[in-house]
Amino acid sequence: MNWQKYYDARKISIDDAAAMIHDNDVIVYGHAACEPRLFAGALMKREKELANVKVVHGVCFGPGLYCQPEVDPNCIQHVSFFAAANTRRAVQEGRANFTPMHFSDIPTNFQNGLMGVTVSILHVSKPDKHGYCSLGVGCDYEKEGKDMAKLVVAEVNEQMPRTYGDTLIHVSEIGYFVETNEPILTIGLPVISEIEKKIAAHISELINDGACLQLGIGGVPNAIMEGLKSRNDLGIHTEMLSDSAMELIKSGVVTNNRKNIHKGVSVCTFAAGSKEFYDWINENPMVELHRVQYINNSHVISQNDKVLSVNSALQIDLMGQVVAETVNGRQFSGVGGQMDFVRGSNWSKGGISIIAMPAGAKGDTISRVVAAHRPGDAITTPRTDVDYVVTEFGAARLKGRGITDRARLLIEIAHPNFRDQLKDEFKEVFGYGL
Ligand code: COA
Repeated sequence: MNWQKYYDARKISIDDAAAMIHDNDVIVYGHAACEPRLFAGALMKREKELANVKVVHGVCFGPGLYCQPEVDPNCIQHVSFFAAANTRRAVQEGRANFTPMHFSDIPTNFQNGLMGVTVSILHVSKPDKHGYCSLGVGCDYEKEGKDMAKLVVAEVNEQMPRTYGDTLIHVSEIGYFVETNEPILTIGLPVISEIEKKIAAHISELINDGACLQLGIGGVPNAIMEGLKSRNDLGIHTEMLSDSAMELIKSGVVTNNRKNIHKGVSVCTFAAGSKEFYDWINENPMVELHRVQYINNSHVISQNDKVLSVNSALQIDLMGQVVAETVNGRQFSGVGGQMDFVRGSNWSKGGISIIAMPAGAKGDTISRVVAAHRPGDAITTPRTDVDYVVTEFGAARLKGRGITDRARLLIEIAHPNFRDQLKDEFKEVFGYGL
């Protein structure tokens, strides 16, 4: 096959691509920094002509145009696996359709026809001399979405890095191409608060040489990475890779030499960070991106020893049930890969999983440790899976502990202003005193 001829014959404009969408289409967008922003904009110009079109994806780093209050959800509706700044309001007002799903399960649910995918919009690098594009900064569910779609369009971006791993896609697998030259969406480094520094210090004590890390996004993971400069031979098998991991890899603290799988290489399923970070992962064999069905598979994660995962939470009850997605019973974020990595690290030889959060919210006027959750609060990690919980007041290991011990341990790391109240509430909820 002369791939160049095929490619040249199928180059179209972004408006032509949007014109191919029909009523009732279910469109999967690239994830996170892979969002096809040109297509998203062009589709909105056709909003009023369309009926029952769904835009399906996980976390949104882009403008989320289809979630603006003026958009009629009967024309275009977002199906969200993860609410973020620009999609949260639409989710909370019921204009977007939040669908709970482990990150690792999204591709299987596409393959099993549960989402009814008809269109896949990819965001890829330019083809190489053999006609292979790279999925660049997002490998998670793109290939499975593409396999289920009748129409596959790719934004071919000059600025999309070429990454290693399972990221190659031949032009013959793509129906139409829209060439672009746009900067990849960046995310800035978070400002690390004093509370986050204290939480990170407790967690750093649990991280020994040779540990294999999953660290999410946000202040705590960044603060932890700052504190790991004196460690040796760390490994990375994570969901999202970003700037702070890059620094640890560059400095030689991360070698991946003690991993049982992907020795010598840091692996993730998507990448997001600064322009410098995107330049660094471009054609960098030290990093590989693989599908989320693989990277977030708990059995795969557990093949490495001493896996240590750190995820955040919004609230925990005295039995250890972790709420990481809802605030006051309203959807705030999503399931993501929290359970994937909690299970994976629990099953790893010498592994530990950590749920980290400040003890209080809203200037410590609210306790995040509660006797019982409210109606509408969603349990992201059940009490059967929770291991360590860390706040700025210390670390509590709940795994293997009974309910009474768990409550005592959690109250010890709750904000001091709420400890007596929590003891009283325990008695009300459980019928006996601590
Ligand atoms: N009651 C009332 N308000 C609360 C609260 C509670 N129990 N807990 C948090 N809040 C408020 C905070 O005060 C903050 O509001 P503010 O910015 O106005 O002060 C807001 O809710 C967000 O809380 P914060 O702790 O700052 O959230 P975060 O940005 O650090 O994100 C999670 C934390 C848990 C939402 C995020 O990690 C997540 O989505 N996790 C779920 C999925 C996951 O872990 N995936 C693995 C990696 S993808």
